[in-house]
Amino acid sequence: MIDAKALRNALGNFATGVTIVTTCHDGRKIGLTANSFNSVSLDPPLVLWSLAKKSSNIDAFMNVDAFAVHILGADQEALSNQFATPGIDKFEGVDIKTGEADVPLLRDCAARFECRTAYRYDGGDHIIFVGEVLELEQSEKEPLLFHRGKYARKTMPKTGDRPENARDLNYLVARAYFMLTDGVRAQAAEKGLSQVDHYALSVLLKGGPASLSKVNGMLGTSGWQWTDTDLQRLADAGLVQVTDDGIVSLTKSGRETMIGLFVQAKAVESDAQKAFSPDELDQLRSLISQLLETLDGQDAKGTAQHLEVMNALQADQPAEEGSES
Ligand SMILES: Cc1cc2nc3c(=O)[nH]c(=O)nc-3n(C[C@H](O)[C@H](O)[C@H](O)COP(=O)(O)O)c2cc1C
Repeated sequence: MIDAKALRNALGNFATGVTIVTTCHDGRKIGLTANSFNSVSLDPPLVLWSLAKKSSNIDAFMNVDAFAVHILGADQEALSNQFATPGIDKFEGVDIKTGEADVPLLRDCAARFECRTAYRYDGGDHIIFVGEVLELEQSEKEPLLFHRGKYARKTMPKTGDRPENARDLNYLVARAYFMLTDGVRAQAAEKGLSQVDHYALSVLLKGGPASLSKVNGMLGTSGWQWTDTDLQRLADAGLVQVTDDGIVSLTKSGRETMIGLFVQAKAVESDAQKAFSPDELDQLRSLISQLLETLDGQDAKGTAQHLEVMNALQADQPAEEGSES
């Protein structure tokens, strides 16, 4: 005798997507979350899903000829929970349009299939519904997944079959950094700025006026130091000014130069981001942040300073006009 809990646990190893199945019965909109969905046949185009006989909606689905299956996107977990909650108005606050036979259609899903009920089969404590697909729509959205009783997201493609150096994290991070910043570093060099000048002026652009030692504090983990000679050179070039009490700020020309470089860096970044979907970008940021947090734990003080500099460099907008004063 198979234990129901053991069976459920073992079946949970089969990762699935998540769908919402909707229909309209006697003028009433009906819907529920289902991960029993699967493809059946391409010709004719058939799909299936199963509904618990104890569902409050079993009579409705036994009596309608049309339903729609929506494959949910990774950002639709809340919608999945809403449609899995019995006894509530599942369509409250949900933006829908109406399809054939008044079937409510949800928007912004990963894919949607409008079906005609082709067959119904008894399946123990469930009824299996087979639908013939009459209309479909799909998007590039990353799908929501369900695995071992929890929502999940698609993992990154495996890197195993890439060349050896493309699996070396140091190499990947360093190469990405250099490729992202190559152009802007070359432009900075043309304007007579070394890498440390560029870094230090970025700190001043974002953070506003600061003493040399404060700027050097921010450069801490990079191993770079901005010297009095560097400062004098940039003051002579008209890019920075220093007050009597040693506070360094950007001049108008310094500010314009840095904003130009900043805009160029942002343009390169935004071009590079086109390689990813919004969800992938989110994952990339989250993985890199996770890496930084781990490194931060290993060298808490140094990395915190480094992050401060990186934040200054990565902020979406240059500092507001007037923040120098
Ligand atoms: C991820 C997930 C998948 C589900 N899959 C199914 C399913 O395939 N069939 C089913 O009958 N119930 C499934 N359920 C449960 C129903 O969504 C839930 O019982 C719903 O409230 C049923 O609606 P009703 O009782 O209001 O008719 C699932 C729930 C979740 C969260």
